[in-house]
Amino acid sequence: MSLFSKLRCAVTLGQGVLVNLPEPKGDEEPLALFSQWFDSAKASGIVLPESMLVATATTDGRPSARVVLLKEVDEQGFVFYTNYGSRKAQELIDNPFASLTFHWNILQRQVRIEGRVEKVSYEHSDGYFQSRGRGSRIGAWASHQSQPIGNRQQLEQQVRDIEQQFHNKDVPCPEFWGGFRVIPEVIEFWQGKADRLHDRYVYRRQTPTENWQITRLSP
Ligand SMILES: Cc1cc2nc3c(=O)[nH]c(=O)nc-3n(C[C@H](O)[C@H](O)[C@H](O)COP(=O)(O)O)c2cc1C
Repeated sequence: MSLFSKLRCAVTLGQGVLVNLPEPKGDEEPLALFSQWFDSAKASGIVLPESMLVATATTDGRPSARVVLLKEVDEQGFVFYTNYGSRKAQELIDNPFASLTFHWNILQRQVRIEGRVEKVSYEHSDGYFQSRGRGSRIGAWASHQSQPIGNRQQLEQQVRDIEQQFHNKDVPCPEFWGGFRVIPEVIEFWQGKADRLHDRYVYRRQTPTENWQITRLSP
């Protein structure tokens, strides 16, 4: 790398650009690396480091994507919460596979995850739901996510109706709202480097009990 390239990386977006992705020895757990990168993203001051693009597809292969927030991650998978009547949820119910993409720009890092999707249990969703503020809980009841709505007044009226319904009562998790867990089969780490000579490692496994196969990919 030329001195100019190094300087350009260091003074522009280059916080992570001079950092090599360590060569995997073959026994690494990608979730440990993910956690390390996620912690760095949180520490970096990036706004909403937990935001990720979720891509779904219809049964005839038409893709769609949108941003959601990662709420839990562990050996079982990556969990986000949504309305089960939404477009994404319908696509996931009909075709239970998703891809997730994180982009932590100032660190010059991307992580891509692919896998089968399952709904989390009602009890699990309720546990998270109860940690949300009352306004968000009311909002989840009031919004028929992804359905057409005439105007903002209508949405606000729906909120007032739900507030009335739960006046002086706890707001339970609606049956039509909850989590999806993406169980990873593919996790790719991308570390931006100078001159487009980025580092990429992809970890693959067919089932959660298998060992991960690690492959370096050309940038
Ligand atoms: C930063 C950000 C975070 C979001 N987080 C969520 C989320 O956690 N869950 C969710 O259902 N929608 C979330 N949304 C809204 C979605 O992007 C999307 O508009 C909505 O879920 C409807 O998508 P769908 O019609 O494809 O189902 C978020 C949007 C942004 C920009």
